[in-house]
Amino acid sequence: MTSPKKLFIKTYGCQMNVYDSERMAEALGGQGYVETKTADDADMILLNTCHIREKAAEKVYSELGRLKPLKALNPDLKIGVAGCVAQAEGAEIMRRQPAVDLVVGPQSYHRLGEMEAKVRKGESALDTDFPEEDKFEHLKSRGKAKRAPAAFLTVQEGCDKFCAFCVVPYTRGAEVSRPATQLLDEARALVDRGVREVTLLGQNVNAYHGAGPNGDMTLANLIRELDKIDGLQRIRYTTSHPNDMGDDLIAAHGDVEKLMPYLHLPVQSGSDRILKRMNRSHTAESYLKLLERIRAVRPDILMSGDFIVGFPEETDEDFEATMELVREVRYGYAYSFKYSTRPGTPAAERPLVPAEVADERLQRLQKLITQHQREIQESMVGRELSILVEKQGREPGQVIGKSEYLHAVHIENARAQIGDVVKVKIVEAKTNSLMAHEL
Ligand code: 5AD
Ligand code: SF4
Repeated sequence: MTSPKKLFIKTYGCQMNVYDSERMAEALGGQGYVETKTADDADMILLNTCHIREKAAEKVYSELGRLKPLKALNPDLKIGVAGCVAQAEGAEIMRRQPAVDLVVGPQSYHRLGEMEAKVRKGESALDTDFPEEDKFEHLKSRGKAKRAPAAFLTVQEGCDKFCAFCVVPYTRGAEVSRPATQLLDEARALVDRGVREVTLLGQNVNAYHGAGPNGDMTLANLIRELDKIDGLQRIRYTTSHPNDMGDDLIAAHGDVEKLMPYLHLPVQSGSDRILKRMNRSHTAESYLKLLERIRAVRPDILMSGDFIVGFPEETDEDFEATMELVREVRYGYAYSFKYSTRPGTPAAERPLVPAEVADERLQRLQKLITQHQREIQESMVGRELSILVEKQGREPGQVIGKSEYLHAVHIENARAQIGDVVKVKIVEAKTNSLMAHEL
């Protein structure tokens, strides 16, 4: 028997990519690949790239330059690029780095098996099309094997919002939702395989509208249907746009118990002048009003967000408005980025804020967010929370799980098993986790 071929996938960027990498591994599993943790012993290396961060394409090219010598050590090694950089750069990747055998965009992962067979014959394979049908076929996770208790379920892809700084509408294409009937079947199958929590994924997840048994369903309708599945204990969703927070979704936060009190709702800036230039079509005030309505039905909801500092023409006053909004919201988590130019986007044409000014603003913003994060973590001490146990800890008898608010929680001397949802009391807040006793 020949030993299985080894696959190494390096994943950059968002949860969508983490999920896609799992699907790619499944697709290549059909070609006899098993995953390996290092590039050195791989027969196939896939870089699942993200285009959102600064100089993303350049970073991919330098990573490819580092990987190329491995081909001299293993003549069977094939190198592929997937994800949003693959989508954006296409054939240019093979022109600039001939060591690359395969380039595959996010819409084409279901064709990876065929593409692999092609590269094994010594040909190159390129697929960055946006096919109309069978777009989501590849997302159906297959098999019967037991799954980790928390799983992602892609319900929607693409984005029609065209924020002035963002490449997603160009790299991931227009918004498309998967049929609700299919998603509900898939959620049931996940629960049969041990899943207790699903996070519904989409670039603009709350714009979801997919065909259900009785017509089109919104995200709130879908959540209410998922709520009925026995054995499924927790529901989350990410990432949302403020303009798509419908009344029915807000109401669901108030009365669907399985819907966890955590909401990732990026605002990007607290300045209306900048929000307008970002083409965000909401204001700081409308965002805060929205939050007020959500907190009215779910007062303990933990907010998470994304911020861009140093957007073209951002003044000190604009930035102070962002700081003010953060003070008002108090985020439990937030991701803040220095603006970086994405060629082809409207903002790319506009005058930049000096780098040192943007750096200084980013530091101030991150300091404030970290302070809130710490205060919120510390406020959990003494509280009774419920934890979904996800894995064994490093210490004997220790297990690690997530609270309703998505904090990592370590339980010592646990009776609870992986997959259990247990009540605990938080006894200590560490920098990146909480310590708890089982009740
Ligand atoms: N520069 C900086 N940050 C960006 N993001 C998206 N595009 C850019 C860019 N050009 C950030 C936004 C988005 C998150 C996923 O990445 O905050 O919400
Ligand atoms: Fe990008 Fe804006 Fe769409 Fe989010 S909503 S993916 S930031 S264009």
